[in-house]
Amino acid sequence: MEAAKEEVSVEDEAVDENVFKDCSKIAFYRRQKKQLSKKSTYRALLDSVRIGKDSTNFQIINEATKIPLLAEVYGLKGNIFRIKINEEAPLKPRYEVPDVLTSKPSTIRLFSCSGDADSLVLADEKGDLKLHITADPFKIDLVSKEDVVLSINSMGQLYFEHLQIPPKQRTSKENEDDAPTDTLQENQDDMGLWEEKFRDFVDIKANGPTSIGLDFSLHGFSHLYGIPQHAESHQLKSTGDGDVYRLYNLDVYGYKIHNKMGIYGSVPYLLAHKLGRTLGIFWLNASETLVEIKTEPPVENTLTQMDPLAPKQKVRCQTDVHWMSESGIIDVFLLTGPTPSEVFKQYSYLTGTQALPPLFSLGYHQCRWNYEDEQDVKAVDAGFDEHDIPYDVMWLDIEHTKGKRYFTWDKKRFPKPKRMQELLRSKKRKLVVISDPHIKVDPKYSLYAKAKEQGFFVRSPEGGDFEGVCWPGLSSYLDFTNPKVREWYSGLFAFPVYQGSTDILFIWNDMNEPSVFRGPELTMQKNAIHHGNWEHRELHNIYGFYQQMATAEGLMQRSEGKERPFVLTRSFFAGSQKYGAVWTGDNKSDWIYLKISIPMLLTLSITGICFCGADVGGFIGNPKAELLVRWYQAGAYQPFFRGHATMKTKRREPWLFGEEHTQLIREAIRERYALLPYWYTLFYHAHVTAEPIMRPLWVEFPNELETFSVEDEYLLGSALLVHPVTEPKVTMVDVFLPGSDEVWYDCKTFAHWDGACSVKIPVALDTIPVFQRGGSVVPLKTTIGKSTGWMAEAPYALRVALNSKGSAVGELYLDDGHSFQYSHQKQFVHRKFSFCSGVLINSCADKRGHYPSKCVVEQILILGVRKQPSTVTTHSTDGEDQPVAFTYSAQTSTLSVKTLSLSINTNWEVHIR
Ligand code: NOJ
Repeated sequence: MEAAKEEVSVEDEAVDENVFKDCSKIAFYRRQKKQLSKKSTYRALLDSVRIGKDSTNFQIINEATKIPLLAEVYGLKGNIFRIKINEEAPLKPRYEVPDVLTSKPSTIRLFSCSGDADSLVLADEKGDLKLHITADPFKIDLVSKEDVVLSINSMGQLYFEHLQIPPKQRTSKENEDDAPTDTLQENQDDMGLWEEKFRDFVDIKANGPTSIGLDFSLHGFSHLYGIPQHAESHQLKSTGDGDVYRLYNLDVYGYKIHNKMGIYGSVPYLLAHKLGRTLGIFWLNASETLVEIKTEPPVENTLTQMDPLAPKQKVRCQTDVHWMSESGIIDVFLLTGPTPSEVFKQYSYLTGTQALPPLFSLGYHQCRWNYEDEQDVKAVDAGFDEHDIPYDVMWLDIEHTKGKRYFTWDKKRFPKPKRMQELLRSKKRKLVVISDPHIKVDPKYSLYAKAKEQGFFVRSPEGGDFEGVCWPGLSSYLDFTNPKVREWYSGLFAFPVYQGSTDILFIWNDMNEPSVFRGPELTMQKNAIHHGNWEHRELHNIYGFYQQMATAEGLMQRSEGKERPFVLTRSFFAGSQKYGAVWTGDNKSDWIYLKISIPMLLTLSITGICFCGADVGGFIGNPKAELLVRWYQAGAYQPFFRGHATMKTKRREPWLFGEEHTQLIREAIRERYALLPYWYTLFYHAHVTAEPIMRPLWVEFPNELETFSVEDEYLLGSALLVHPVTEPKVTMVDVFLPGSDEVWYDCKTFAHWDGACSVKIPVALDTIPVFQRGGSVVPLKTTIGKSTGWMAEAPYALRVALNSKGSAVGELYLDDGHSFQYSHQKQFVHRKFSFCSGVLINSCADKRGHYPSKCVVEQILILGVRKQPSTVTTHSTDGEDQPVAFTYSAQTSTLSVKTLSLSINTNWEVHIR
């Protein structure tokens, strides 16, 4: 208990930058920089080429060391290439990241179509995409229809530290032989070859230096995105000396804004975009990784320096990306696009799509560290009803447990957890509780005792279980990389095992970077040992991924595979989207954190993690009413919508800031609930076709340069443009409405503008600038309930926004909202709405689906109707044509029908004449 208290105050301090490393303190970075400043070249031995069914292999040799590397080149289904480079004969196997690829990707045969002694050209069947491999110096060009899109190792930064026999075990002969110059023998002390010091920590490296690196030149590209997680702009910035993007999962309380240091999660995947092409580079490596980015603007050069009159040639802009990892192998996927949506599909083919979440989890979540006891929970829950504010989920942080022993309850505070859950159930609400990866060292805690007995903890290099300090005091850490541990952990969620749990209880995985309070950089020492004898250094960034995987599996198993899980995680890796949601950790109650939440979430969204959000209100500090209102308004339009606050903050439930602000927060949350049919349809699309939900403008308008750097607004799906207000006392915002052929409608005033312009939108405290794109139909609910559960039968409204041709299309997906029947039994409804020539048609979008929904469409609002119609009639296949009452506003060009009762599930038409 003492330790935990002490650590709370440690967490309350602002970021102490000395706790975390900058590049100068990272030995493998120093080694690579030093070595690469010298000339070291690699040559491909093209006479060693073997063209197999799946891959083409050849040796690469370092001219200095003569140690061969083996390169394997794969063509994968869907216009993806994979290039693996490893030692041909390592002293022992090097770590290759398991469990991230959804299955073994299907290979396609690559044909060697030309080439000579100095080069090899591999092409896909159609010959549209080629890899041009040059032998000396080794280089690979990706060529698409004669255009060199990307070059690998054209900067000569291929770097590979071979495993070596430790100096103490070497014979003198071996010392001579086994002293590869590419691992720098000089100044060994500060090069951190076998030992690296940081503050009071010493990282002893049993395997010595093992780092790798490679460069990619992106021709004609100056816009890059991705590699979360950083509190940085959406568009990646050029990096300066020592100021590189770091991918190393760390617990950084109140992380700094506009900073490239690593925070809670890592996705080593970036996208590059230019007019006419998007591509992706996925660097599958789970060890500490650094990424340098250098963009060169276009320049005009004379071809020969000798002749100043020679014609000038424009050299395209170029961006060079240099990946460096501490360990593992080079395993890189080139996603060749060419469009953003094809890149999303290619990435999802490798790592999976967003899991379809249960519907309740798209509602509003109420969290606090901590809701004190059952009474507190009851009172907060009742507060929502008293103030007529919908919410779906109550959250309990670490204090709900008995001394931070997860899977237990503090019996004084929560004597009857099931009773509390029944109360929530009666309101059709859910409970989420926290479950962290550290386990209190306490032989009387049965979970600890069982895990210890079975050898389920990460081990220390000296032998025995690794022990570090976290919330409960001294703790051991479950080794989720072990499939047996995951299986056992999943079993802990079974109802009879998890005492006090019911089927409305879901899970939050926190501190899973993992956070170790007294460890180096507040995390686990790199030489701790995991299953298979792998060092923690090899897999650090994937630890949290595995915990969420095991938790999601556990929640599925407890319902015998029938119910969808909901798991929120703080730490993540490529592919975490398959297991649930992610949030951006410990932000602050400050306007700049509200603002940065948009680019941070956009970056997560385009790297597969669609179900993401930031703590509404800011976790640390006390927001003033205006900030809190603005944050609710922004959060209502972000995928994961949860209010959360740390211990020492004042209470901030939505009704504690005066009636005026309660009303504003109520309205923002109600807008979220009204839009749930649209949100759910977007999640379905993300799940099935890998389209992000929250989209940067460039994704929807890839041919409009002006969109490439926009990060203060975004699209939800393709139909809604949201520009949250993120500054205090604002009376006007500049909104950029993209698309030269587009029309945009203000969702409140119905005012409209042609696209490709910036407009000044007046804003009051109740304004959330949201615009609907002409040509879209957005489904909404007409009545809001206490929670999503109360709204299953509520009628629909369709908001039809006409484009310049007077037409629009949209969709609705619905199912039971909680089970897997949508997939196993095809129990879903998927409808298509199209409006053309004055007729709105509701038709079936997917004939495989069947679900007995009783819901009706009650209202239709059409925006952009230029002249008053004389009649509106409904036509259904099974009934008579019916004239219906309508109102028309010439001032706003809107037509509104409010008294319909058209089944959502049958075909019908509404004619407007
Ligand atoms: C850190 C998390 O980021 C925060 O959300 C949580 O409240 C605390 N840990 C306590 O569990």
